[in-house]
Amino acid sequence: MKFDPTGRTPVDFADELHEMGCPIIHGPDGEVIVVGHEEAMAIANDPEHFSSAVSAHLQLPNGLDGAEHTSFRSLIDTYLAPSEVERYAESFREVAQKVVAQALKNGSADAVGQLGARYAVRAMMVWLGWPEHLEQRLLDWVMSNIAASRSGDREKIAQVAADFDQIISEVVEPRLKAPESFNDVTTQLVMDEQLGRRLEFPEIVSILRNWTGGDLTSMALCIGVICHGLAHDASLQGWLRSTPEAAEYEAVMDELLRLDNPFVSNRRVTTCPVSIDEVDLPEGQRIYLHWTGANRDPRVFNGSFDPHSHAEDNLVWGSGPHVCPGRSLSMLELRIFFTELLDAAIILRVRGEEQAGERGVHPTGGWRQLPVRLLARQH
Ligand code: HEM
Repeated sequence: MKFDPTGRTPVDFADELHEMGCPIIHGPDGEVIVVGHEEAMAIANDPEHFSSAVSAHLQLPNGLDGAEHTSFRSLIDTYLAPSEVERYAESFREVAQKVVAQALKNGSADAVGQLGARYAVRAMMVWLGWPEHLEQRLLDWVMSNIAASRSGDREKIAQVAADFDQIISEVVEPRLKAPESFNDVTTQLVMDEQLGRRLEFPEIVSILRNWTGGDLTSMALCIGVICHGLAHDASLQGWLRSTPEAAEYEAVMDELLRLDNPFVSNRRVTTCPVSIDEVDLPEGQRIYLHWTGANRDPRVFNGSFDPHSHAEDNLVWGSGPHVCPGRSLSMLELRIFFTELLDAAIILRVRGEEQAGERGVHPTGGWRQLPVRLLARQH
């Protein structure tokens, strides 16, 4: 049986499949889409049969398998360790305060474009030490990336990717020529010798593309989804203002993201004929691990908002050897952003939100645009 996700939100697509009791389905272009939790977990944790080498382009470390993956992954993990990223907390806070203050002046904002993308871009620039003049170009890029992914137009997607590589090259080249003139994470990466050698230019570009490109967009979409959840639950806003422990705070954000996971899917390809859930797949079968769907599997999650019971099975950050190494950085950025936003404002939904906002449709998730009202709090 085939089922076409085109034109549907990833949540609607997955919920329909769950209702039909179909954890695995053939998509319109010969791909197999996995929305079942158990099935997605099994595939993500079996890299021998389900390879991540799905692209002709260099993708470090996500396009690698086995020992090669392990060595690039351990290099990357050193940059994204909690103790490393924690050092940027105060800078992220300053960025969040400025973005929130700007939005409060207007009394309303698009949670994705004006709050999410702006904060994601500025926080990333602070972390990597990129020059301020790139801000508008990066912001325009995030929105073009969302539009291109949504259009599914291969030429547009390739153009947007090339535009991003151009920005990265402009940042990397001066650091390669005169590393002594810079003191930032990007230069640290350029000079990195953890693999027993310096990284080659295409490797540096690929790693930076991975840390920035897609993840700026993911961060912007995550802020949209969390704003939506909070705008609909004043008591949850109140609870988050009561300064819970970081882990408690993060459990709430994880659960809001689980319900409407904007990081929709990742690809795999089978390395030999395999069978999952009595579905036989040939070698070379393209597979989409549909995280949004797996995160809403009614066989695992009860229908309610339940951060504690659902934490262990939450797949927002993936599972297995490719599980997101950027979780600590992302969670720190998100926690700081929402602490500042909730301290300064009450988030209210706008009337007719469904019409005023725009849901992301396959392959984008969450909200493409979400207007929210912001009411300044009296201190
Ligand atoms: C903002 C929200 C984010 C979400 C929801 C997210 C989610 C994910 C998921 C589900 C995977 C698993 C991919 C797979 O199994 O194929 C992943 C991988 C990855 N993420 Fe994230 N991510 C986010 C942000 C970030 C950030 C900010 C960074 C880095 C600065 C980052 C770096 C990576 C890298 C390098 C991988 C590939 C890991 C590997 O192949 O070993 N992510 N992410």
